[in-house]
Amino acid sequence: TRPFSLAVVPGDGIGPEVTAQALRVLDVLAPQHGVAFERTEYDLGARRWHATGETLPESVLEEIRQHDAILLGAVGDPTVPSGVLERGLLLKLRFELDHYVNLRPSKLFSGVPTPLAAPGDIDFVVVREGTEGPYVGNGGAIRVGTPQEVATEVSLNTAFGVERVVRDAFARAQARPRRKLTLVHKNNVLVHAGHLWSRTVEAVGAEYPDVTVDYLHVDAATIFLATDPARFDVIVTDNLFGDILTDLAAAITGGIGLAASGNVNPDRTAPSMFEPVHGSAPDIAGQSKADPTAAILSAALLLDHLGLPEAAGQITQAVEADIAERSGARRTEEVGEAIASRVAGEVSTVS
Ligand code: NAD
Ligand code: IPM
Ligand code: MN
Repeated sequence: TRPFSLAVVPGDGIGPEVTAQALRVLDVLAPQHGVAFERTEYDLGARRWHATGETLPESVLEEIRQHDAILLGAVGDPTVPSGVLERGLLLKLRFELDHYVNLRPSKLFSGVPTPLAAPGDIDFVVVREGTEGPYVGNGGAIRVGTPQEVATEVSLNTAFGVERVVRDAFARAQARPRRKLTLVHKNNVLVHAGHLWSRTVEAVGAEYPDVTVDYLHVDAATIFLATDPARFDVIVTDNLFGDILTDLAAAITGGIGLAASGNVNPDRTAPSMFEPVHGSAPDIAGQSKADPTAAILSAALLLDHLGLPEAAGQITQAVEADIAERSGARRTEEVGEAIASRVAGEVSTVS
């Protein structure tokens, strides 16, 4: 069989550090499953911007588009004005490759420290819309820097865009044992977009009578994420609410170093992209302090997407076993090495 082609974008800060560990784990798995990964690494991010002024040249985007999947580390750097790389590289990839399902699972592995006193059995997935909302860049500013400055960021929500992500969320909810879908929005204030989302969930829900549906305003959703996160199964929400909720979701399930994500194009008209939820962490970059687990679990999501669920499961199992035995601070490479060894079968996995 032909090798899978992977576009690798290590990016900035801790991005390259954690990506290296994810690739190491993929390298161990590939021969076990009789597959190969042909990797092309793309030098995108702060270094390139400083050198050339480019964030994501059209020709590079077209090359990346030809791959089976993308593995991304993180982008953003304190030496680059905020938003340049985030919008010009990361969001450009999500938008151009139509990653309308931003999939962010949260599971509390046993033995993981959580700030919650009574966490319960946390196992939910956030289906965050990825191509619309306040992220589209529909805004502007006038009289900048004056007392008369006016700035807008207009959230864009289309019936087409909301329906397709809501359908995806229902399908995911139906495939899970609890079959529950929670819409999170703010339809008591953002009435235009909010009611479009609510009506869409109601309409699509009629086709999924076996899925229980409920609704929470986003502010209340943060309460329940902190007090009763076990109530959630699938959450569907807009781009910005999903961004905020998933950092909170990470915080209650062991921290941002464990949270993985997939930017999925469910129609497969372009490659999907897998990346940790966290950013480039300039405060710890270059010190081998970053936890690569989120990047490694993102590689598991990638394997699942490529039709290799057993390989993906091996990663999850290895991570669970590693986490159960974690104590004290380990360097980035040590964590990668430990998980890779388990995947290789060199360490017996506690079950
Ligand atoms: P961040 O996620 O980079 O860091 C927040 C905190 O979490 C920091 O204290 C950091 O040290 C810690 N942290 C993050 N990842 C960690 C890991 N793997 N192990 C241990 N600790 C970890 O968020 P931020 O500080 O808000 O953003 C920094 C830069 O990253 C900004 O430029 C931002 O735009 C960008 N960013 C990029 C992405 C992405 O590429 N997907 C996501 C979020 C933020
Ligand atoms: C994330 C990040 C990005 C987002 C930024 C860096 C554009 O915070 O992946 O969660 O807001 O989606
Ligand atoms: Mn975020």
